[in-house]
Amino acid sequence: MGWPNVEPAPPDPILGLTEAWRADPNPRKVNLGVGVFQDEQGRTPVLASVKAAETALVAAELTKNYWPIAGDPEYGRRVAELIWGADGGSDARLRVMCAPGGTGALRVGAELVGAVVGRGGAVWLSRPTWPNHRGIFTAAGFAVREYPYFEPAGGGVDRGAMWAALEAAGPRDVVVLHAGCHNPTGADLEPEDWQRLAAAARERGWLPVVDAAYLGFGGTLQQDAAPLRELLGAGVEFLAAISFSKNMGLYRDRVGALAIVAADGQAAEALLSHARCAARVLYSNPPAHGPQVAMRILADRLLREMWTRELDAMRERIARARAAFADGLAARLPARDWSFIRRQRGMFSFTGLSRAHTEWLREHRSIYMTADGRANVVGLNPDNLDYVCDAIAEALRERPAG
Ligand code: LMR
Repeated sequence: MGWPNVEPAPPDPILGLTEAWRADPNPRKVNLGVGVFQDEQGRTPVLASVKAAETALVAAELTKNYWPIAGDPEYGRRVAELIWGADGGSDARLRVMCAPGGTGALRVGAELVGAVVGRGGAVWLSRPTWPNHRGIFTAAGFAVREYPYFEPAGGGVDRGAMWAALEAAGPRDVVVLHAGCHNPTGADLEPEDWQRLAAAARERGWLPVVDAAYLGFGGTLQQDAAPLRELLGAGVEFLAAISFSKNMGLYRDRVGALAIVAADGQAAEALLSHARCAARVLYSNPPAHGPQVAMRILADRLLREMWTRELDAMRERIARARAAFADGLAARLPARDWSFIRRQRGMFSFTGLSRAHTEWLREHRSIYMTADGRANVVGLNPDNLDYVCDAIAEALRERPAG
C-alpha cells in the first residue's frame, strides 16, 4: 500500500494554540489559551504535596509491573471516598476505575455505552462545549446533537432553551454535563437544575455523563462535587469522568477516573468488566505513576491537608485574576458591563470577544485565546494585565462589528 496524498490535519483548537504561542518570537506574547493553572509569575509549578508524595513513592517503589486494567482498586476507593464521602463512596452501585486523565475516562465511558447500549444513539453536548467532547464521542460512533446552554446577554445559563432541547433526548442517548466551571463559559448550573436533571434522566432514560475536570476551582472540591453526590443520591444511573490534571497539577501524568453508577452492585460490576474490555483495546492498562501519587495524597492525612491548602490557594489566585481582569476592562471600556467575569466560575472567562477579535489579538499583539473568546484568566499576571486589557480595548475599536 502507498500512502494517499493527504492534507495536514488542522491544529487542535486548544493545544495547537500552545504550540503556536511557543513558536511566537514576540517577547510580550501571552497565552490565555489552554486551561492550565499559572501563578502570578506565570509558572505552573509542581505542587508541594505532589513533590512530597512523588519523592516517597520513588523511594518505596519496588516494581514497574503492569497495573490491573482498571488500576489499583485502592485508587478507585480513595477517589470514590473523596467525591462521595465515606458512605457514598462505598455505595454498592458505584465502581471507580483509573483512567488516563479526564479524556481517557470520557473515551472509555463512550466505548462502554457503545458496547452495552449500542452505537445508534446520540450524544447531547452543550452549545458551546469543550471541543474534544465532539471528537471523543464521534470516535466512539455517536451522532452529535446539541442543547443550547449559554445566554450571552446575561452571561448565564439559558435554562428555558436547555430544558426544551433536552425534551428530545431519548433512552438510547447520552447527555454530557459539566459538573462545574463549565468549559468554555464558566456559567454553572444551580443545585435545583441538578435535581431537575436527575428527575429528567430517570423519567426519560437518558444517561448523564458528567465531566468533572475542575473540581476545587469554583468552590471547595466538596462543594464542586455536589452534583455528583446529587445524582448518586437520586438513584440515577450515570457516568462521571474525573480528572486530577488541574486540581493536582498533574497534567502530563494523565491522572483520571471513570465512575460508573448502575442500578445495583451486580450491574455495576458487569459494566465495569465491559469498561475494562474497552480500556484494554484502547491503551491496555493505565499509567500508574500519577495515579499512585494521587492515591498517596488522598491516603495520607498530612499530604491531603497540604494539597487542600494548595488547592485553596489556586482558587484564590483565580478569583484575584478575575477581579483584576474585570477591573482592567471596566477602566478602559466603561460603556460595557464586565461584571460577568467575576461571576463566571473556574479558570475560564467567556469574554464575548468574537473570532475576529481573537484573531486580531493574536496577529497584532501575540495574545492567544481560543477562537470562541474563551480566556484562561490565570494567564494574566501583574506583568501582562495592562498589556492585555489595552489590547482588548484596541481590538474592539479595530473590529467594531466583531
Ligand atoms: C482546556 O480546555 O484548555 C483543557 O481542558 C485542556 C485540554 O485538554 O483541552
